[in-house]
Amino acid sequence: MGNTQTEAVIHAYDRYVMNTYVRSPVVITKAKGSRVWDVEGREYLDLFPGWGVSGVGYNHPWVLQALRGQSRRIIHVSNNYYQPLQWRAAKKLVDASFDGKVFFTNSGAEAVETAVKLARRWGQGRYEIIAMERSFHGRTLAALSATGQAKHQQGFEPLVPGFVHVPFNDLEAVRRAITPKTCAILVEPIQGEGGVRVASDEFLRGLRELCDTHKLLLLMDEIQTGMGRTGRWFAYQHSGAQPDVLLLAKTLGGGFPIGAVIATRAIADTLTPGTHATTYGGNPMGCACILAVCEAVEAQQLLERVAMLSPSIFQRLAAIRQQVPMIQDIRGRGFMVGIELSQDGRPIVEACRAKGLLINCTQERILRLLPAMTITRAQLDRALSILEQVLQQAEP
Ligand SMILES: Cc1ncc(COP(=O)(O)O)c(C=O)c1O
Repeated sequence: MGNTQTEAVIHAYDRYVMNTYVRSPVVITKAKGSRVWDVEGREYLDLFPGWGVSGVGYNHPWVLQALRGQSRRIIHVSNNYYQPLQWRAAKKLVDASFDGKVFFTNSGAEAVETAVKLARRWGQGRYEIIAMERSFHGRTLAALSATGQAKHQQGFEPLVPGFVHVPFNDLEAVRRAITPKTCAILVEPIQGEGGVRVASDEFLRGLRELCDTHKLLLLMDEIQTGMGRTGRWFAYQHSGAQPDVLLLAKTLGGGFPIGAVIATRAIADTLTPGTHATTYGGNPMGCACILAVCEAVEAQQLLERVAMLSPSIFQRLAAIRQQVPMIQDIRGRGFMVGIELSQDGRPIVEACRAKGLLINCTQERILRLLPAMTITRAQLDRALSILEQVLQQAEP
């Protein structure tokens, strides 16, 4: 056993937990808003809370209240009965997006699986889905096959057939990839794991047109971008290009594992009783959390907050870039920020952590910030000051 509590926990993980994650040596025991505490009592400011899950902040009081209240009534209802919360959560999501119906899942990958099945069944023999290079859609087999990154797929072949990958933001390439077998196009409005790459509004509108012309479904994966992160409920709303199917998870449950697929009314009934199911999907605890998250987004005016605070993040980063030549690019939208470096970003993440700031690095060189929409201006300022200091010290 190790000398510190942290070492002891790491040692126990080595013995009992499958080693599938690259983990930082921090044992988290408590969190609130954008702050996290470890087992040694150290406090961190988290600009990447819960890998995008804690969009309304860790332990949002209304989410806690929803969990407490619902747990006193019933924590699970099987889907062959009705319950009062599932339709209310579905209605809330439909009201925030477009007229349609919702299928609830337990995770993002399961939402992707659902969308793939929906598209295939709707396609009636057409089964090909055009997805994007560098995309990320999850780790289950169809989601992995949809993912446009070979590094995640190696060793798991044969993949699920029927996925074609084209360069992101290249409408001509999408057009060329359409065949008589194509049933859908799958896109993230901002690629998250792929390096915070923003789809242009023209690209998304072009995809919409292609789908209309060729009778294809437009599937948008907003598992990372959805529920307010970009300053609108959903990132597609910046472009005016509405999807036929919208995929959600992460922020949706405020920390409770739940995902959702919203399909337009015209196609939602493609899935009929017996064609698709999941035991826990739409669990009342999860639905109560969705309602609490939506309530927080609305009553705390979090969309407006993101829209108001986001420009100051990008301005500050642009100023830091003047002093730090290793910054090659700054991109993103709202509270989804990528900082591309000319060198490995992982030592920067570690140096930030040593100074009490948690951030992420994706694709080796792209620092990623997904702050909670409830973060205070002072917390943001402090976080960016730490980042600035670390970047300046790391400059070769
Ligand atoms: C865009 C996107 N799609 C799908 C997923 C998979 O979600 P989950 O890990 O909940 O299965 C993720 C997770 O990072 C994601 O960012």
